[in-house]
Amino acid sequence: MAVVEVKDNVYWVGAVDWQSRYFHGVIYTTHRGTTYNAYLVIGEKYKALIDTVYTPFSEVLVSHLKELVDPTEIDYVVVNHVEIDHLGALPRVMELCPQAKIFCSQRATWPIKKHFGERGWDMTVVGTGDVLDLGGKTIQFIEAPMLHWPDSMFSYIPEDRLLLPNDAFGQHLASSGRFDDEVDNAILMDEAAKYYANILLPFSSLVDRKLKEIAKLGIEIDTIAPSHGVIWRKDPNQIITAYQSWANGLETPGRVFPEVVVVFDTMWGSTEKMAEAISDELSRQGLRVSLYNIGKSDDSDIIREVLEAKAVIVGSSTINNAMLPSLSPFLYGLVGLKPKGKMGAAFGSHGWRGGAVPQIAAMLADAGMELVGDGLAIQWVPDAADLEASRDLARQVASILASQG
Ligand code: FEO
Repeated sequence: MAVVEVKDNVYWVGAVDWQSRYFHGVIYTTHRGTTYNAYLVIGEKYKALIDTVYTPFSEVLVSHLKELVDPTEIDYVVVNHVEIDHLGALPRVMELCPQAKIFCSQRATWPIKKHFGERGWDMTVVGTGDVLDLGGKTIQFIEAPMLHWPDSMFSYIPEDRLLLPNDAFGQHLASSGRFDDEVDNAILMDEAAKYYANILLPFSSLVDRKLKEIAKLGIEIDTIAPSHGVIWRKDPNQIITAYQSWANGLETPGRVFPEVVVVFDTMWGSTEKMAEAISDELSRQGLRVSLYNIGKSDDSDIIREVLEAKAVIVGSSTINNAMLPSLSPFLYGLVGLKPKGKMGAAFGSHGWRGGAVPQIAAMLADAGMELVGDGLAIQWVPDAADLEASRDLARQVASILASQG
């Protein structure tokens, strides 16, 4: 992949990882790969590299830098975030330009040393309001703690109205094009939603606050260059508007999403029958529904749908007085992500003794969801009355959603 000019004398010099299929261990599937974006800014006097790449791609970054400059002449390296997918190539870069000054947030200094040891690098702490003058181009820094780590920082080049927000506004999407107008927009927004749901969702109130702060700072943005995926140049407002919706639990303009997500696992098919009755009734009530058997599904894809859904209904058989363990990653994920403004409901069938339904209900409540009823637990194989009770749960959810408009 060649270097790409983003703005006059601002270049993408990162790496495309076509083969990535998991992120953050195995909890986030990256079906479409990812990119690690780094940017070289060439001023009249000085050159600055903004972020690096994941360690295995260090030489890709170096070869990209060499296409443009002599890397020994890089004057500054901006570390917007200390997660290894952006920090990993820092030692290789600093090997080439040991005299370069590193600019980072206060909270980034300690993790940089913990990652790489005491290297004697010249580190300058910057915060909101600080400016690095490259000659004809300036880099302004904006602290962005918890978007998504305490050390996170945005960089902004006012001369180009270019925001470099590191992980924010990213997507795990490998592509030959580097810009939003070079990929399918539906795929792009789906990956952006999955990224927000799985990474930024717990920090939604801070996302909302940061968007307002940026508006207050009067920062004009015509391009957003994140650290993963494509660069928003055609319509940066599309992703800003989506973030405003996702951060506030509102409908995202232009997107059609399931309103209710039903997730289940089943031992011998009884809970499955209930799940099918519930989802069938929800759709008869005019709602858009997704139905997932957790054992055949991808948790992080379901989480993406939860982001834009209004209700989540989860069912399980009971084993050893508890829910089936297959549901644990999904439910613990929800507890950590705490999606805003969702309704939750639990259901399931058990044999001699139950336990799954109250356990699921408790976890949905822990995730911040407003519960519909105490949960629907039935015994053995659902008969006509049990299936009607399942449909009734669906009707209750539909009725509450209708009353909310
Ligand atoms: Fe893309 Fe938080 O690293």
